[in-house]
Amino acid sequence: MNGCRSDAIRREGGLLVKRLDSKRALIIGGGGDGIGRAITRSFSAEGAVVVVADAQPDRAAEAVDEVRGRGAEAFAVTGDVRSPAELGDMISRAVADCGGLDTLVTVVGGQVAFVPAVRLHEMRDEDWDTVYELNLRYVARAVRAVLPTFLGQGGGSVVSVGSVTGLMAAPRQAAYGVSKAGLVSLARTVSAEYAAEGIRMNVVAGGAIATSVNPAPDSPVPEIPAGRYGTVDEIAEAVVYLASDAAAYISGQQLVIDGGVSSRGPFG
Ligand SMILES: NC(=O)c1ccc[n+]([C@@H]2O[C@H](COP(=O)([O-])OP(=O)(O)OC[C@H]3O[C@@H](n4cnc5c(N)ncnc54)[C@H](O)[C@@H]3O)[C@@H](O)[C@H]2O)c1
Repeated sequence: MNGCRSDAIRREGGLLVKRLDSKRALIIGGGGDGIGRAITRSFSAEGAVVVVADAQPDRAAEAVDEVRGRGAEAFAVTGDVRSPAELGDMISRAVADCGGLDTLVTVVGGQVAFVPAVRLHEMRDEDWDTVYELNLRYVARAVRAVLPTFLGQGGGSVVSVGSVTGLMAAPRQAAYGVSKAGLVSLARTVSAEYAAEGIRMNVVAGGAIATSVNPAPDSPVPEIPAGRYGTVDEIAEAVVYLASDAAAYISGQQLVIDGGVSSRGPFG
């Protein structure tokens, strides 16, 4: 990595109106082809220098190539978030090469791709641990790792991709629901402990979001008040907002992007 300086951003017309201008952002799970990639794209379009962290080097490289192809700056770091050493290494490389860090975004997570969907009594301990590790534990580690940098530079923010599954019952996804709910608790604690030092953490909780692993049906979806799946760009937009200075007074919150699913009553 050559270092990510904020002056590496291409400025057009001398006007700096981008919402994340000059911010240095580490996006863990920023490769992919779904929510992570959309966040990488949006952060870059809003002026951030992005460091894309991903377990798959080809995905991270592809995301970086896409950003650079549009004339902005980005860097790749690779590692598995389940390994404390690899996670720590990705974070320290991002901080060292950027000379600091303004925003941490955590995207890695899920259940369907990692363990079977079974009821509680059928769930194996190791599957519970896998889901917990991939949705909450690494986030807590990453937050703890960036806090000294944020404290040293007088502020910073974390945005974690959560899920409405953390707001309600999570049949056949208990560990996923518990872990996503835990993200909100973590955000509240970060807020309580560090808001006075300019450090914020918030969660963006998605409902059904159309991705390659969760494709949207062709027909309207009556279970969702909005009648459709959300898009990855709708999640990315919320993450950009919470990472921006426009959200400077928002911390410890969960922003729900679910087409109205979680606000339904018993009769509709
Ligand atoms: N798709 C939905 O309906 C939906 C709804 C709500 C929340 N979410 C949340 O969105 C996030 C994922 O979004 P997505 O499904 O669009 O995926 P994505 O396409 O954004 O991919 C995530 C990336 O994480 C990387 N990754 C996976 N395991 C890793 C590991 N151990 N270490 C490092 N990197 C790893 C993958 O290589 C991939 O590039 C999850 O947190 C999920 O819970 C998704």
